[in-house]
Amino acid sequence: MVQIAIMGLGTVGTGVARVVAENAAQIERKLGEPLQVKTVLVRHFKDGPYRQLMTDDFRKIEEDGAIRVVVETIGGVDAAYEYTKRALNAGKHVVTANKQLVAEKGCELLALAKKRGVNYLFEASVGGGIPVLHPLTQCMAANRIDEVYGILNGTSNYILTRMVRTGAFFSDALREAQEKGYAEADPSADVDGIDAGRKICILADLAFGRQVDPADVPMEGIRNLSLRDVKIVQRGGYRVKLLGRAVRLPGNGRTAYVAPHLVPEEHPLANVEDVFNAVMVRGNATGEVMFYGKGAGEMPTASACVADVMEALQASPRREEIGWEPETEGFADPMTLRGRWYFRIDGSLTDAAAAFGQVEVLSEDGETAFLTEPLSGLEAAKQAEGLRQLARMRVLG
Ligand code: HSE
Repeated sequence: MVQIAIMGLGTVGTGVARVVAENAAQIERKLGEPLQVKTVLVRHFKDGPYRQLMTDDFRKIEEDGAIRVVVETIGGVDAAYEYTKRALNAGKHVVTANKQLVAEKGCELLALAKKRGVNYLFEASVGGGIPVLHPLTQCMAANRIDEVYGILNGTSNYILTRMVRTGAFFSDALREAQEKGYAEADPSADVDGIDAGRKICILADLAFGRQVDPADVPMEGIRNLSLRDVKIVQRGGYRVKLLGRAVRLPGNGRTAYVAPHLVPEEHPLANVEDVFNAVMVRGNATGEVMFYGKGAGEMPTASACVADVMEALQASPRREEIGWEPETEGFADPMTLRGRWYFRIDGSLTDAAAAFGQVEVLSEDGETAFLTEPLSGLEAAKQAEGLRQLARMRVLG
């Protein structure tokens, strides 16, 4: 019998307990012994199927030698960081879905796990139920990864899909996403690009092997996106998608950001809808590889957590090293990246052409919406200085 603890009984923590119970036979067959949740750390006791397992005292987990793996689904940094360090120091494997903690402290916690001879695994922190971190660090290990980009926030993608398909109001679509258990406790992290930002940091850390500090990464969400732009670009053959993107630059350089993009309708990301996420990884040997699936929700995310629990137990004494150095040098401003830009201006085509030369017009009706030739973000911003800008977005590709 292998015993584990769950810290935090929110959406994902509850899902972990359910997956362990509902898939018990299959898990036992693979592990060679039954897996059991022994203790659940909560802040407030509540009735329900796990009432008998609950404690509000972390020492009951820390000092219990029978607990071999701790699943951290508290979220945030403060208590989660403290308890994760203490659990690792007590010689327990730790598995998490906590993107914020991994993005901010993952490098340090991996080093601590290594020192203690245990695993710190976090597949569920990016893409919910989609296996992407393991393939990135293991199956694609023979590649130099040049770029990772994708739809990394299920809540935003759900809202965008509802707005486009049914003309739903932003607030109604957000409430639906919350009811389905997709949204963060503070949903502004979803709609303001912060959740996707944490995930692109983790992907960049693992893809390029060095720390990308979330504080350096510009994160723009969908809160200010206008339905008008969504419709104009759709008529022009594009979909608006919130993308996280991390790019390897010459030397030791790299950059990352989150922002709404125009995605050509023939691109595989254009038709990724609802709560689905998709991550594209470009390796120098593989070319582009796409990972697709449910990026949020109780059971998909819990499935990734429980798989990590099983891996932590089976990879004896510990899983091979994940390359992730603490160095932050070499991070560049993503505005240096070149690409085409979409603008909508309060002005005429003549104004647009005077600022940008040749442009591709998408709409002209008092306002003008157009695409530029490839430019860096810095050049695009400078050339647009004299214009009355109503919207600006990057074009993918
Ligand atoms: N709130 C997140 C999302 C959950 O909507 O994608 C998964 O990280």
